[in-house]
Amino acid sequence: MFARLEAPEADPIIRLMAQFAEDPRHDKIDLGVGVYRDAAGRTPVMAAVAAAEARILAAQETKGYFGLAGDPRFLVAMRGLLLGDGVDPGRLAAVAAPGGSGAIRQLLELVRLAAPGATVWISRPCWPNHAAIADAVGLRLREYSYLGPAGDVDGAAMLADLDGAAPGDVVVLHGCCHNPSGADPDAATWAALTDMAERRGFVPFVDVAYQGFGTGVEADVAGLRHMAARLPEMLIAASGSKSFGLYRERVGLAMALCAEAGAAGRVGGALASLNRRNYAFPPDHGARVVTTILSDPVLRADWEAELATLRARVATNRVALAAALAEATQSPAFAFLTRHRGMFSQLGLHPEAVLRLREAHGVYLVADGRINLAGLTPATIGAAAEAVAAVLREAATAA
Ligand SMILES: Cc1ncc(COP(=O)(O)O)c(C=O)c1O
Repeated sequence: MFARLEAPEADPIIRLMAQFAEDPRHDKIDLGVGVYRDAAGRTPVMAAVAAAEARILAAQETKGYFGLAGDPRFLVAMRGLLLGDGVDPGRLAAVAAPGGSGAIRQLLELVRLAAPGATVWISRPCWPNHAAIADAVGLRLREYSYLGPAGDVDGAAMLADLDGAAPGDVVVLHGCCHNPSGADPDAATWAALTDMAERRGFVPFVDVAYQGFGTGVEADVAGLRHMAARLPEMLIAASGSKSFGLYRERVGLAMALCAEAGAAGRVGGALASLNRRNYAFPPDHGARVVTTILSDPVLRADWEAELATLRARVATNRVALAAALAEATQSPAFAFLTRHRGMFSQLGLHPEAVLRLREAHGVYLVADGRINLAGLTPATIGAAAEAVAAVLREAATAA
C-alpha cells in the first residue's frame, strides 16, 4: 500500500525548530516559530486559564460526549468576543472546531459544498496554511497584492486586484496582526473593502488568530465588526491558541454570517455535519476554559490585563529593534517595524540573507524573512540587529 507514497516535504517552520534545537551555540536567537514567549523564553499558562482550569476540574462530573457543534455557551461567548452585539444572532451559524486551523478547514469545506466553483483569494504574502487548506479542499486559489515597498499595506493595489473577484468568491483577510507581514489595513481600507464586497458580491473570510495582540481586544476586531454590520454574508474563523495561550488545547470557532435566519439554520446544520464527518465531536476542554473566562467578569478582567502585558512586551521589542536596526544599519529602512502590529514582521530580507543569518550568526527566522518579535529580549536585540546589519553589508559588498 505505501510503496509509492512520497514523504511530504517537511514543514519549514517545524524544520527550523529542529535545526534551532540542534544548534550548539549558546548565543543563538530563535525568531522562528509563531508562539508568544516571555523574556525568559517561556510560553506561559495565563493566570486566568490556570484559575478556570482549577474550577473546571473541581466541578466537572463527566467527560461524556457533548453536541456536534460544541458547547452552545462557548459559541455565544465567542460571538460576543468577536462581534459584540452588532449582529443579529439569528443570522449567525457557528460550531467549535479544533483550533483556528480546524475552523478554517471546516469553513472552506463549507464553501466547497455551497459554491464549488468559488475562488479563494489570499494575500501575497500569506500564512502558508490558508493556501494549503484551500488546496486540500479542492478550491481554486488566487493571490491579491498586499504590501507596498515601504512595508505597509498597499490598499490601492489590494483593492485593484480584488476588483477582479467574482460574486461568491471568498476573500481571506486577517482580522489583525497579519501573518507573516505584521502590516494591517487601516480603517479606511477596511471600509473600502466592505464597499467593494457589497458592490462585487464577494464573501470576506476573516481569520482572527491574534485578537488582543495588536492594539486591544476590541480594537483588533474593529474591521471585522464594520464588515459584519454591513454585509449579508461573511465567514469568520477564530483561534484561542494565541489570545488565551491555549495552543495545544485546540480551541477554534467556525462561524458564518448569513443573509437571513433560514439560511443560518441550514448553514449551522451543514457545519455540524462537517464536524461529524471529519472528527465527530470538537475538543471541549480549551473551549470550556475560554467560556469560563469570558463569562466571569473577574477572570475576564484578569485575562485582558495579562494579554495587555504580552502585547506591551512585543510592542516594546518592536520599538527597541527598530532603534537598534537604525543604529546598526545607519538607515531608516526598518522604521516600518514600529507601524506593524502583533508578533510578526517581515524584514524584507533575501532568502540568502536569512540563511546567512542562521549559519553565521545563529539568528533563526522563517525563509520568507518573518521574525517573531516575542523571541527577542533586551539582552538579544542588539546582537540580532548587528547580525542583520552585518549580513546586509556582506550582500552589498558582494553585489
Ligand atoms: C493567520 C493564522 N490563522 C490561523 C492560525 C491558527 O492557529 P491554530 O490552529 O493553532 O489555532 C494561525 C496560527 O499560527 C495563524 O497565524
